[in-house]
Amino acid sequence: MDGHKMRVILHCGVIAALLLSVAWATPQGADDHEGHDHGPHTADHHHHLHHGEDESHPQHEGQQSYALSKPNADFTFALYKKLSALPEPQSNIFFSPLSISMALSMLALGVKGDTFSELYQALGYAEMTPETVNVAYEHIFHMLGHEKENMQLDVSSAVALRSGASVVDKFLEDAKHYFESEPFTVDFTKRDVAIEEINKYIAQQTNNTITDMVKEVDSDTLMILINCIYFRGEWQKMFNTKLTKQADFHVDENTKVSVDMMQNQGLYEFYEDKDNFTTVLRLPYKGSASMIIVLPDEGKMKEVEDSISTSHFKHWIDAMEEGRVSVHMPKYSASGKYSLKDTLTAMGVVTAFLDTADFSGMTTEPVKLSKVEHQAVLRVDEKGAEAAAVTTVEIVLRGIPRPQKMKLIEINRPFFVFITDRSTKSILFMGKISNPAAK
Ligand SMILES: *[C@@H]1O[C@H](CO)[C@@H](O)[C@H](O)[C@H]1NC(C)=O
Ligand SMILES: *[C@@H]1O[C@H](CO)[C@@H](O)[C@H](O)[C@H]1NC(C)=O
Repeated sequence: MDGHKMRVILHCGVIAALLLSVAWATPQGADDHEGHDHGPHTADHHHHLHHGEDESHPQHEGQQSYALSKPNADFTFALYKKLSALPEPQSNIFFSPLSISMALSMLALGVKGDTFSELYQALGYAEMTPETVNVAYEHIFHMLGHEKENMQLDVSSAVALRSGASVVDKFLEDAKHYFESEPFTVDFTKRDVAIEEINKYIAQQTNNTITDMVKEVDSDTLMILINCIYFRGEWQKMFNTKLTKQADFHVDENTKVSVDMMQNQGLYEFYEDKDNFTTVLRLPYKGSASMIIVLPDEGKMKEVEDSISTSHFKHWIDAMEEGRVSVHMPKYSASGKYSLKDTLTAMGVVTAFLDTADFSGMTTEPVKLSKVEHQAVLRVDEKGAEAAAVTTVEIVLRGIPRPQKMKLIEINRPFFVFITDRSTKSILFMGKISNPAAK
């Protein structure tokens, strides 16, 4: 071994991989400008975006998208804590905070009053103007669209619109301008066709990694906002498949599972945060993305999970230094599926789901938010990783009774019967019917 620092990343404990918001994943220097806000922009600010495919991005373009780094990271950890506390315990949690932030920011283009301010508060944008937020997303879309050399990182969005819906033009214009969103019309009364069309769009945008996002639609849907992220990257240092061996992975003190453990050695950036029981490792992809592994010390997952935050994360990114590392990492896949209505409500997004919601920036029809769905998948192997996520935001007409799923109730055995009076809350009659055929 040479004189360099050598560190074995033990393959015990639990690995937490976060799909990072994009600004964090940009190379060194990005953090220096984090939180930089260039203030209001003129109406024709977007002209400079139209540089050629091969030209590099003007420096200020990157900086404008950093305006969202901190609020989006705060949103990531706040959302993570909610998802990890969901009642049905899931061993893996996987989601794309950026996709969710983007979909909700697109929604914010069309809402006003409390509906708007609650959304901006939950997203962490309360101190920012919509102009700053929207322009930052415009830059994120533009920058990602151009990163084509060594990796694929695409974001896309769309508005699936009920045919004949009356929609405010400015909403569609802004969605197109800032979020590159193209509208397409869908006949929500033909459910199967509508589901198929939307899923086809999503499958195309995610390279067929997410093909069954929408399972049902309400016939009274006005529109569904869609955001997709697709990432495919090759490791800067590939793992040699010949070194991949079966090894134990310790799910907890008493449970171990056998995994395909990949191995690699070389120079990697890492940091051991002893006070905070964590080792942090950066596995860079070709291009601008990295996977950051945050590995809590044995038995310390809970402590780390409880304290993980933007400031910890930023501290880790800043403190990492290059050294020689032998990396043992399982080849793994993860996926997550979340209905976010309750989670968002717990985060303060309340009015959007109520009949008092103000969607006047989007439509003159009486609508409200019915669902926010999210799905994400990840696959990691020796060559690199592929990850995709979709967020759909469903806006429905309110006050129209939702078609109920048909439940079969067969009264084919003895039963009790009550006749009650609502005005007096009285039971007027009660019976027990054991044999309706008896005289
Ligand atoms: C889509 O997936 C296929 C097979 O998994 C892969 O060969 C191809 O490169 C991917 N396309 C993009 C644009 O990443
Ligand atoms: C532990 O985390 C805190 C907060 O991020 C940080 O200030 C401190 O330096 C960390 N400890 C170490 C050893 O890095």
